[in-house]
Amino acid sequence: MLEIAPSVLAANPLFVDRDVSRLLKAGASVLHLDIMDGHFVPNISFGPAMVSALQARYPEIRLDVHLMLSDPGKYLDVFIQAGANEITIHEEITGDVKQLLAYIRQAGLRAGLSVKPGTPAATIFPYLDLLDLVLVMSVEPGFGGQKLIKESLAKIQELREAGFTGTISVDGGVNAENARMVQSFGATRLVMGTAAFKSEHPKQLFESLQQG
Ligand code: DX5
Ligand code: ZN
Repeated sequence: MLEIAPSVLAANPLFVDRDVSRLLKAGASVLHLDIMDGHFVPNISFGPAMVSALQARYPEIRLDVHLMLSDPGKYLDVFIQAGANEITIHEEITGDVKQLLAYIRQAGLRAGLSVKPGTPAATIFPYLDLLDLVLVMSVEPGFGGQKLIKESLAKIQELREAGFTGTISVDGGVNAENARMVQSFGATRLVMGTAAFKSEHPKQLFESLQQG
């Protein structure tokens, strides 16, 4: 079953609840939350207060927290307590990826690992048995509204060939025009920021993507 995960970064910051509830009504069951520290990526987004507010308002919706932080270890407890259901860290950090992934799982959350466009899929093969989710970045992380980098999609097939059977999520520039292509590579979750929040008819968009 394909999951559509609207990326809350693309919501109007003055009307987050209005914009999010519109997409949940349209059928989204996961929300993607981009946490940016202005250091790992050249942008700053929002923090744990956003996660806990959304968790309190929509307890039945899964919160897929994408930590674009240089030192995610410092903040795991904060986002676990805020109500994240899944936490994804980046392979490119200097910290102990194995230890951080184990910590996320020990807390009862799904653990994810993300690779930037320039990071080969093989880099994360040693971690596959620690992962519930791989987040393949199809843009340079830091901003919504960018164009999908098609070359990133080959990593999905490499991960499947390496035996990964968990969720493979594609993040960045996914829209109605390229979603089927992304899915054809084996993605099971599509993160959609601009394409979802700017869509005039999100219900139709999500339903047409589900039909494959
Ligand atoms: C980029 C973020 C993405 C982004 C997706 O660093 O990780 O989640 O918000 O937004 P769109 O779909 O507009 O590229
Ligand atoms: Zn993201």
